Amino acid sequence: MVTILDGKKLRDKILAELKLKLDKMEKKPTLAVILIGNNPASWIYVENKKRTAESIGINSIILRYPKDVSEEEILDKIHELNKDDNVNAILVQLPTPAHISKENIINIIDPRKDVDGFTPYNTGKLFSGEKPFAYPCTPKGIMLLLDEYNINIDGKHAVIVGRSNIVGKPLIQFLLNRNATVTICHSHTKNLADITKTADIVISAVGEKIINENMLKPNCIVIDVGISKDAAGKIHGDVDFENVSKIASYISPVPGGVGPMTIASLMLNTVELFELNR
Ligand code: GUN
Repeated sequence: MVTILDGKKLRDKILAELKLKLDKMEKKPTLAVILIGNNPASWIYVENKKRTAESIGINSIILRYPKDVSEEEILDKIHELNKDDNVNAILVQLPTPAHISKENIINIIDPRKDVDGFTPYNTGKLFSGEKPFAYPCTPKGIMLLLDEYNINIDGKHAVIVGRSNIVGKPLIQFLLNRNATVTICHSHTKNLADITKTADIVISAVGEKIINENMLKPNCIVIDVGISKDAAGKIHGDVDFENVSKIASYISPVPGGVGPMTIASLMLNTVELFELNR
């Protein structure tokens, strides 16, 4: 029987604990989110972050810019936020429009306010096995979800599908830190199914429906990070949930799996940065 990895339930538990902690704090943390352009998915994600933050007592500021804003204006704003003692956490919603270099933007965020853990300083810390000021939210959320269900990672073969800076690449390090054997696959990988069939844990973060039951070993653990919409507007993940559920031991659903855990991690990171900078 498959066990569903319930990200909503764990998110609610984490948020309830955070709220209790925040209720006792006289001064509250502030999260500043920069949103450029009108990508509908980004608007929804950012609204969700704001709503969640405010529901537990974190102040949030959303700074919205038109899609043709100059890179210079964004850089100036980040410098200002870096210096502002009332702002503890800074997030630039990705993707940014093509004329704005996400590297230039991320590189100047103060690592002590880098709530995504994306700056070179925090990435370097993560990859050298040291503690960054903040860990990237989606991989952190995945690990919290695996731990909640007491899933042992040590010595397991974990196959990651997708090599993004946001999910795939940092996940390598999270899993290595926990003594997994890690393989990372991507769009140029040959014979993907031959590799995923050898996995004890498959984590897919592609944004296309690419994982089916014929590509997996019975009783494997499946984490679905993908989120996209079909022609009818229905949300789905990278995994054929219905058929994979028949052979997997654990599976995270979409929606309701990794997505809520990303938000929970963002709230945890905001509070941790606030405590660090106080
Ligand atoms: N866009 C999609 N996921 C993320 C994330 O984790 N952080 C930021 N800043 N942008 C994103």
